[in-house]
Amino acid sequence: EAQPPLLGRRVVVTAGGTREPLDPVRYLGNRSSGKQGLALAEAAAAAGAQVHLIAGIMDVTAPDLPNITAEHIETAAQLRAAVERATDGADLLLMAAAVADFRPADYAAQKIKKTEDGTNPVITLERNPDILAETVQRRAQQGTGPTVIVGFAAETGSADAEPLELARAKLLRKGCDLLVLNQVGENLVFGRDETEIHILSSPELSDQAQDANRGEPVSMRGTKRQAAEAILAA
Ligand code: C5P
Repeated sequence: EAQPPLLGRRVVVTAGGTREPLDPVRYLGNRSSGKQGLALAEAAAAAGAQVHLIAGIMDVTAPDLPNITAEHIETAAQLRAAVERATDGADLLLMAAAVADFRPADYAAQKIKKTEDGTNPVITLERNPDILAETVQRRAQQGTGPTVIVGFAAETGSADAEPLELARAKLLRKGCDLLVLNQVGENLVFGRDETEIHILSSPELSDQAQDANRGEPVSMRGTKRQAAEAILAA
C-alpha cells in the first residue's frame, strides 16, 4: 500500500474565530464556525500528518484523534503567540482562523453601564497584528517558519472589485504560498457543511511546480472535508 502523503509532516491548523473582550461580560466576535479548519485538521491527520490545531471559538468540537493535539485560544493576541510557538520547524501552516482585524482599544475592568444622562458609550478600536503576514515575514528573516503557508480569504465582494481580484491582491500583499478564497454572506459558507473554494498559488510556487495553469485558480465545490483534501493536494 502507498505511504500516506503527509506521513512525518508537522501541520499547524488555526480554526474558528477570535473573541476580543470589551469588558468582563462582552466581546466582539464573528460568525466563523470552525468547520473548515476542523476539516483541514482531520484531512491532514488522515493523510498521516502530526497535526497541531489552534482552536478559537467554534461551533464544533475538536476530534479526539491520536495524531491531533488541540490548544484553545480566545483573542488574536493569544492566537499570535500560539502560532509563533507552533510554527517553528513546522512543514505547513493552514491559517483558517477568522482573526479579528480590530480589538477594543480599552478593556473596561468593570461592566460598562447605561448612563443616567442617556449618552451612549463609544467603543474605540485598534488594529490587531496580521498574524499570517507576520509568519511569512518571520520565515523570510529567520528561515524557521513553515515550508508552506496557506492563507484564507472570505470575501463578500464589493461594488468596485471582484472577489478573485481582491484575493489575488491579498495573496501578493500577505506573501503566503497559497490563498484559498471563499465568498461569504448571509447564507453562504459560515456554518454550512458545503462550500465553494478557489485556490490561488503564488507566482513562486507556480514556477516551482512548473504549473501549466499558472495564475488560474483551482476551483471546487463540495463538502468542507472535500475542500480540505483539495487544499492539501494543492
Ligand atoms: O486580511 P484578511 O483578514 O482578509 O485575511 C485573511 C487571512 O489572514 C486568513 O488566513 C486569516 O487567518 C489571516 N489573518 C491573520 N491576522 C489577522 C487577520 C487575518 O493572520 N489579523
